[in-house]
Amino acid sequence: MTPVVVRTREELAEARSRVEGTLALVPTMGALHEGHLSLIRQAGRRAGTVAVSIFVNPLQFGPGEDFDRYPRTFAADLEACAAEGVDLVFAPGREIMYPGEPQVTIKSGPMGEVAEGAARPGHFDGMLTVVLKLLNLVRPDVAIFGEKDAQQLAMIRRMVADLNVPVEVVGGPTVREPDGLALSSRNRYLSAAERETALALSRALRAGADAAAAGPDAVTAAANAVLDKATAADPPLGLDYLVLVDPSTFTAVAGSHAGPAVLAVAGRVGATHLIDNVSLQFGKEH
Ligand code: PAF
Repeated sequence: MTPVVVRTREELAEARSRVEGTLALVPTMGALHEGHLSLIRQAGRRAGTVAVSIFVNPLQFGPGEDFDRYPRTFAADLEACAAEGVDLVFAPGREIMYPGEPQVTIKSGPMGEVAEGAARPGHFDGMLTVVLKLLNLVRPDVAIFGEKDAQQLAMIRRMVADLNVPVEVVGGPTVREPDGLALSSRNRYLSAAERETALALSRALRAGADAAAAGPDAVTAAANAVLDKATAADPPLGLDYLVLVDPSTFTAVAGSHAGPAVLAVAGRVGATHLIDNVSLQFGKEH
């Protein structure tokens, strides 16, 4: 069945008032792929009503980034939502989300200035601002975000805790192509040769994970060995960062660290910025 599609705050409020029981929200920027669909299925297992928001948020794109060419595939997204049994799609225009230039926005703090935040200054401020607006507008019981964006997920959890936002934040596992490439709406930008180079990201993470028994430093060395080759490939990988960090604070871990960690990587292939990560466990809790 086709979901109810609402575009304005008034339409959303009216649709929200008719929801009985629990509501799960999957916030997206559209260009839905199997990764999003797995989050939607997860939402369906968590709540009686599933809402998907589709909004390409200008605030989280920096100058020179791909806001203008970001894929906008609303008709296909709606079909995919219908096939997954989504109840409600909130697809606001820019004038609905930002009727004027916003004066008050979320500041992501120190966690927003490392790794992806260092590669894309201001990105997390814009992302958190729109996520808080979406949570305030939709008022879900549960909000589901992909673990591929590990730093985004950690920052949303932190915002929800720090600002007492009444929602449960849940992560959904990364979905990969059979050769390991993490699904991303940006994969469609890649030529065949660029895609081949991009595979170095997931290969580096696998190499790092395979070295986990030898400790954090062995993990980063193994991953860097794969990335070094990719930076010399044709087309080359432009490495933005490889970090081994605490999953909830994104502070670096190394040496004798014991406990959970995330190995996160990002790079550019051609004009396409790609990210990936893997969760690891070190030491006694292994
Ligand atoms: O992950 C995304 O697609 C976006 O960052 C989000 C969470 C929908 C906010 O615009």
